[in-house]
Amino acid sequence: MSVQEILPNIYSVGVIDWNVRTFHGHTYTTKRGSTYNAYLILDEKIALVDGVLGAFTEEFLSNIRQVVPFEKIDYVIANHVETDHSGALPAVMKLCPNAKMLGTQKCKEGLYKNYYGEWDFQVIKTGDTLALGKRSLNFIEAPMIHWPDSMFTYCPQEQLLLPNDAFGQHYATSERFDDEVDQCALMDEAAKYYANILWPLGSVIAKKIEEVQKLNIPIKMIAPSHGIIWRRDPGKIINAYLGWAKNKTQPKVVVVYETMWGATEKMARKIIEGITSGGVSVKLFDIATSDRTEVIKEMLDAKGFLFGSSTHDNDMLPTMAGFLAFLKGLKPKNRLTSAFGSYGWGGGAIKGIESVLKEAGLVNTQPGLSVQYVPDTDEFKRCYEFGKEFAQEVKKT
Ligand code: FEO
Repeated sequence: MSVQEILPNIYSVGVIDWNVRTFHGHTYTTKRGSTYNAYLILDEKIALVDGVLGAFTEEFLSNIRQVVPFEKIDYVIANHVETDHSGALPAVMKLCPNAKMLGTQKCKEGLYKNYYGEWDFQVIKTGDTLALGKRSLNFIEAPMIHWPDSMFTYCPQEQLLLPNDAFGQHYATSERFDDEVDQCALMDEAAKYYANILWPLGSVIAKKIEEVQKLNIPIKMIAPSHGIIWRRDPGKIINAYLGWAKNKTQPKVVVVYETMWGATEKMARKIIEGITSGGVSVKLFDIATSDRTEVIKEMLDAKGFLFGSSTHDNDMLPTMAGFLAFLKGLKPKNRLTSAFGSYGWGGGAIKGIESVLKEAGLVNTQPGLSVQYVPDTDEFKRCYEFGKEFAQEVKKT
């Protein structure tokens, strides 16, 4: 990423990771790559906000050097301890040993346990401010958005919010601003990011957004730590987050299945005919061959989830079991669900799926539909009706 002045004397000095294809271990696919954003604020005092992944340290240091000599940096603000933002900070601190680092208490503890650096560290609490000269920075602790150490930095003179991971996207672009990129791709990546990383934290996120709104601080620009900067309409992503955080949904059903010899797939295809006949939008995924990150994104605004699996060892197939375990961790709420599947003799997949759905606190709207071996004409009709009835329930709510 070339260095760019995003506001007078405020520079974007982060890096683009064009080639990253998985994130958080392998829990998240990043088909459009990502960026690690950091910002340098020049005033009578100079502050660096956030860092980048350790692998990009040299490029990051070079970007900073293009703007200011390291010895002139007074403050290094760490909004978040996770290593995609802090990995390069030990190298920065070596080059500006007189700089003070600022972050929350949890951030201080986390940075120490990652890097064992003995840095001059000022612990920040909500309401603390830092005078830079003509500008100042205000801090808002944001625990569990998305780690306990997370914090937002706000510059009132520029009406600029630097919220680190919140409002980000894994989206590598040479452009820096929302008005310069494809809007569908941007919102698609923002939704995917929310669904796969932030979904379980909805109540905390809604509360924090409402708390910030009550502070009546005007926000003209949101510069997150991944992806593009929101300047055209920051309210668009704030409102999207509020909707997602409150589990607002569309009349849409996501059908996820895994099949052994094709019978459960046949059922799934007939079920979605029934759903669409009811005027409800549907997405169908074979979880054994689909990108889980994309499936979860599609579930974010769907009112209904249907899960199908062949029976194997008296339970669902293993890829479906792994998928449901991941989904359960995301804690979706206010969804309608049911299960279906083909079995050979004893059955068990539907019972297994229903048990996980119950543990996840999801409403089972109608009894599961099971078929022995391959569906006959009557059983296909039942599949169609099963989908149609489910669609009616989805439309009711
Ligand atoms: Fe982008 Fe929580 O790190």
